[in-house]
Amino acid sequence: MMNNLVLADTTELDFSAWALSKQTRLEQMLDLALVPADLAPKTLHSAMRYSALGGGKRVRALLCYAVAELCGTDLNVADAAACAVELIHAYSLVHDDMPCMDDDDLRRGKPSCHKQYDDASALLVGDALQSLAFDVLSKPKLLNDASLQLSMLQILAQAAGSKGMAGGQAIDLAAVGKPLTQAELESMHHLKTGALIQAAVLLGAISGSHKQIAAVSSFATNIGLAFQVVDDILDVEADSSTLGKTAGKDANSNKPTYVTILGLDLAKQHAQHLYANAIAALAPFGDNAQRLSALAAFITQRNF
Ligand code: IPE
Ligand code: IPE
Ligand code: MG
Ligand code: MG
Ligand code: MG
Repeated sequence: MMNNLVLADTTELDFSAWALSKQTRLEQMLDLALVPADLAPKTLHSAMRYSALGGGKRVRALLCYAVAELCGTDLNVADAAACAVELIHAYSLVHDDMPCMDDDDLRRGKPSCHKQYDDASALLVGDALQSLAFDVLSKPKLLNDASLQLSMLQILAQAAGSKGMAGGQAIDLAAVGKPLTQAELESMHHLKTGALIQAAVLLGAISGSHKQIAAVSSFATNIGLAFQVVDDILDVEADSSTLGKTAGKDANSNKPTYVTILGLDLAKQHAQHLYANAIAALAPFGDNAQRLSALAAFITQRNF
């Protein structure tokens, strides 16, 4: 089942309906992009669909769609960008859960890919989901401007690579059992989680003006970091069934997190501070940024 993003009051009902419609749309896009499970090699195709469909909050896709609306980016372009970013994200989760990384058996309320299938399949699922992301984004004539479309591919490639998500994951693994300074932790979180969130936003803003792109980029830097700070907090405070992944995993694995470095209260304050910075960055858009603000509120107030 898809998670519905329910927020507190009625002004946000509109946001919840919008989010649900975009989550549904994204699911259809992913379904179309993924190869049917009955095509050979069947185990790989079925495991790819298992890992990418029917779960997740789809926050990166929602950010991409909300920014696209704000910057006047064509919906077809936003569809491809949202799909590509969620495919990279799904790949990162499959690999993140493998025994050689976080060794986690539960993901999105189901057995992790390597538990449902096996390690070799999970490795290949990650590889193939990553390729599919670039396949989707390189669709011929997605944009009339081919060089702009190439820039989109570069934004995603850099966010996923060794100076982005994969680099952050390498730092995360090397940091097990080590005390990091807050600056080191921040840099790790910017890479492992912030980079892909930044890419979702920049791809959504591909048709925006320089001023709009600068504003949403600053928004993304703050909300991307806030996203991982809250993930660290939820690892301590939430339970596995709400999270759909194993709670308490960071402490059990001796990972430095915002909670180990600042403690719960200061980590929560820090998330609020980053949220406020993110909202401040949207000032040039005035009321037009309400949807993006609601999404930022969801990211910082979420309980899963
Ligand atoms: C989990 O991301 C991994 C992190 C980068 C913290 P999400 O919390 O967005 O996972 P899903 O997509 O909703 O399952
Ligand atoms: C993972 O961070 C970030 C990724 C690039 C996948 P975590 O290891 O904290 O993510 P969860 O908590 O397992 O979802
Ligand atoms: Mg991890
Ligand atoms: Mg993990
Ligand atoms: Mg985590």
